[in-house]
This record gives sequence, structure tokens and C-alpha cells, in this order.
Amino acid sequence: MKNGRHLTLGIETSCDETAVSVVADGRDILSNVISTQISIHTQFGGVVPEIASRRHLENINGVIDKALTDAGVCIGDIDLVGVTYGPGLVGALLIGVAAAKSIAYACDIPLVGVNHMHGHIAANYLEHHDLEPPFMSLVVSGGHTNIVNVPDYNRCEKIGGTRDDAAGEAFDKVARVIGLGYPGGPKVDKAAREGRRDAIDFKRVWLEPGSYDFSFSGLKTQALNYLNSERQAGREINVNDVAASFQEAVVEVIAEKAVRAAAEYGQKRIVMAGGVASNTRLRELISEKAAAEGIDVLRPSPVLCTDNGAMIASAAYYAYKAGERSGYDLDAVPALEF
Ligand code: KG4
Ligand code: ZN
Repeated sequence: MKNGRHLTLGIETSCDETAVSVVADGRDILSNVISTQISIHTQFGGVVPEIASRRHLENINGVIDKALTDAGVCIGDIDLVGVTYGPGLVGALLIGVAAAKSIAYACDIPLVGVNHMHGHIAANYLEHHDLEPPFMSLVVSGGHTNIVNVPDYNRCEKIGGTRDDAAGEAFDKVARVIGLGYPGGPKVDKAAREGRRDAIDFKRVWLEPGSYDFSFSGLKTQALNYLNSERQAGREINVNDVAASFQEAVVEVIAEKAVRAAAEYGQKRIVMAGGVASNTRLRELISEKAAAEGIDVLRPSPVLCTDNGAMIASAAYYAYKAGERSGYDLDAVPALEF
């Protein structure tokens, strides 16, 4: 407690960011420190799990110290520790979980393990102070593409998800194929602004009528086939056109299904979350389609879309308020379900 406010320390180490934040009353960010490893993994074209764990171990204490200093608090002021315990890379998750358990034990404060995907949704409580459930959420990240009905703070009902690659994964794979490199999403987003969306006819995969599931794994093959045939024909490849056309095929399906889900469940708001929620074209298209149905679209600013400790702190706070507690036997669960 400081100045009568409840303070949560949120720790996130599920992938390639070592991130720690102090959040007051589940809503106000007092500090948000994100130490990214992107430049290290770029040389390998993706995240190398073993390197990620080592870097988390080297960084974690310094990042925790900085989060406390930036917030102007000391460790004794913290009331609750929240930590991502899955899904993610097991070695990476373990570093955050071990750090969180140590602090909870040493300071004799409660510990709450957080599902990373619930954290992504909670990022919106930090951005939109008046937002309360119920709403429909669209969680689009490097590992997940989910449409989730959120009736209250601590319930997430998944109504659709990807059957193969996640949206972010599709962006990253196609970016690699067309030579844009890692991380692919933001690079495709940028290139697409200079390209034509209707230049190449990438297939929209709708699956069965009424399904809220997705399938993106075929897009990489389509992009490869397109590049090969163009090269064989001796034609020059316009990377911006490939990026714009590919992106349109992904975001059109996502936007359409998210809006349909909200309408069917009678939700008046779609709350976006995850790294891909910062995609310019997805934001534009979903807003257009939702407006036509009288549905509002909310999303966090880009820094809260990608992995951070603040979203974990917020999710932990609401779980704590509902009576949830984790024991010192909290373990990393790499394949944790939504
Ligand atoms: O949520 P996040 O930071 O980490 C996971 O939990 O996966 O999402 C990272 C993913 C990456 O695949 C990245 O390429 C993608 O989000 N991404 C984007 C954009 N910014 C990040 N994809 C498309 N457009 C963007 N602007
Ligand atoms: Zn994430």
C-alpha cells in the first residue's frame, strides 16, 4: 500500500520480453519496464528458447528494481505479485515464476499466477479506465487467434480459435518468405501501406458456415507458390503488393468473424488485444464492420498490445479480488489453455 492504493507487481517472461510493472488498484500504471530481446533473436530469424531463458535470468532482477524505482515505491509497499505462468516457453516462464515466488515468500504477500492470454485482455482495463465486462474480445498474438466472450472479470469463454497457425505466426512466416525478416508483423504492416490489397488473390479461409475458428497455415504455402511462379516467369516481385494482399486475406477474415461473434452474442463492444491488435489495417477494417452493426471497438495503445508486465498485474488484481491465490508450488504450464 502506498497513499492508500493497492499495489500489484506484474511479471511477464513468457517469450522474448523481460517485463515488470507496478500497477495501482488494477488500473493505473505507475511503471512499465520492458526489456526486449528482439535484437538478439533477429540474427536467428526468430526466438531461440534457450537464449531467451538465459537473458531473462540475467535481466530479471534489474528489471524488477527499475520497475520499483520508476514507480517511486519500494518492495515493502507491494501488496500482491502477479506472474505469467503460461502459455509460453517453459524455460522463459520459469524465470518469472521463480522471481515472483521469491518476492511473495520474502515479503509475505499473496501470489497470483496469470494466464498470459487473460493478461492481454486486461491490458484494456489499463487503457480504458471505465471499461468493465461484459464484452467480446479478440485476442490476436504471435501464439493465439481467439474470439473470447468475457461475461465478467474472471471468466473468459473461448468461442473460436485457430486450428493451426496464429495470426502473428502467419505474419512472421510470410514476412520471412518475402524477405522482410523478424519480427514480421510490424514490417508487413508498414510495407502493406505502400502496396495494393487486390494485387494477388490470396484465399480467404472461412471454414464451415457459422464457425468462429481460423486457419492460416495455407497462406505461407500460397505466398511461396506465388513467389516461385513469378520468379519462374521472370517477373519482378513487388514486396509491398504481396504484403498488402496477404494482410488483407488475414485481417478480413478476423474482422468479419469478430464482428459476427459480437453481434450473435449481443455484445456492444469488441475489445482487441495482443500484438496483432496494433495492425493498422485490422484496426481500420474491424472498426468499419463493427460501426455498421452499432458495435464499438476498443484497443490498447501499441505498447500495451505487445507483451508487458502491466497487463499481468491488472489481470492478477482482478483474480485476487475474486479470491484467487497461487501457492509456492505454482509451476510454469507452457501449453496452458485459454
Ligand atoms: O502479443 P505478442 O507481443 O506476443 C505473443 O504473446 O505472441 O504478439 C507478437 C506478435 C508477433 O507475431 C508480431 O509479428 C505480431 O504480434 N505483430 C503484428 C504487428 N505488431 C506485432 N502483426 C501485424 N501487424 C502489426 N502491426
Ligand atoms: Zn503475448
